[in-house]
Amino acid sequence: MNEILKKAINTHTLSKDEIINLLESDGSELYKAADSVRKIAVGDGVHLRGLIEFSNICSKTCKYCGIRGANLSISRYRLSVEDILKDVKQGVESGFKTIVLQSGEDAYFSKELMCEIITEIKKFDVALTLSIGERSYDDYKAFREAGADRYLLRIETTDKGLYNNMHPNMSFENRIRCLNDLKSLGYETGTGCLIGLPGQSIKSLAEDILFFKELNADMIGVGPFLPHPNTPLKDEPCGSFDLALKVMAITRLLLPDINIPATTAMETLNPNGRVIALQSGANVFMPNITGESSKNYEIYPNKSGINASNSDIMVKLDEMLNLIGRHVAKDKGFRK
Ligand code: 5AD
Repeated sequence: MNEILKKAINTHTLSKDEIINLLESDGSELYKAADSVRKIAVGDGVHLRGLIEFSNICSKTCKYCGIRGANLSISRYRLSVEDILKDVKQGVESGFKTIVLQSGEDAYFSKELMCEIITEIKKFDVALTLSIGERSYDDYKAFREAGADRYLLRIETTDKGLYNNMHPNMSFENRIRCLNDLKSLGYETGTGCLIGLPGQSIKSLAEDILFFKELNADMIGVGPFLPHPNTPLKDEPCGSFDLALKVMAITRLLLPDINIPATTAMETLNPNGRVIALQSGANVFMPNITGESSKNYEIYPNKSGINASNSDIMVKLDEMLNLIGRHVAKDKGFRK
């Protein structure tokens, strides 16, 4: 086996140059190595997270994102607390052990309102992940005290120049501040990056991976950039599926025991994308369990979605996973 892979398997560390070397080589050995590290560190169980996209209203204008505030051609929605709880109940009844609440940066969901929703959801026996963007320390603290367990906030890219170019009126420093706050408040903290943003270099992807390691992130989600027609990046090429898979696999080698989802964006680019990801280091799957309105939650075109609203979803997914020697995990799926 390649010496760099041996080092990664044995020490879970790599230099930037070694990561670049892996990113530039053929991935087949890397994927196998990540799969075996995944098996040893977190086993064959796949954790399912039920995703509820509860508002597509967003005050930010990230250049790649289809729900950016400046996109006037989509219809906007915001679920009522009642509807959110209906989706949660259905998810719990279907067997989900984690609920993920995701939205645009929608100030309507104030600290108080979010705490109310969190308190209600935590009456069910589930872990709760939030993915609602940048907030103050005070808000994060209140959400945590109300019972939120995990938080997802991708850094998107650690290339500061590229970050500032992609995110008008936002700051890289504040993004980092948020991630540090979340870690310090005891959230299981998830981050990640986009692969194939215009102007992104291989070197900066290596730096992204080293950033995940330095933060000691508990969850990492990576996916290829997919150009959305109603954004300034509409004419840019898609990110590479293989490159996204490589970044994910190297992340598994460096952070063996974390949770890594097979992302929806991977499935959008490759019809078998999520299964391939599960066999290259991933151990989490996030089906969308939102009711009706979330067809407008189009961060990128053709966002693939398993309709998870039916109650036999667990059986179906378990059958699919059994084909690749895996199964639906029964516990809440915290980092070991
Ligand atoms: N292509 C792929 N992923 C995207 N995201 C947003 N827009 C796109 C796009 N056009 C990702 C971002 C964000 C996550 C919720 O969705 O990384 O953090």
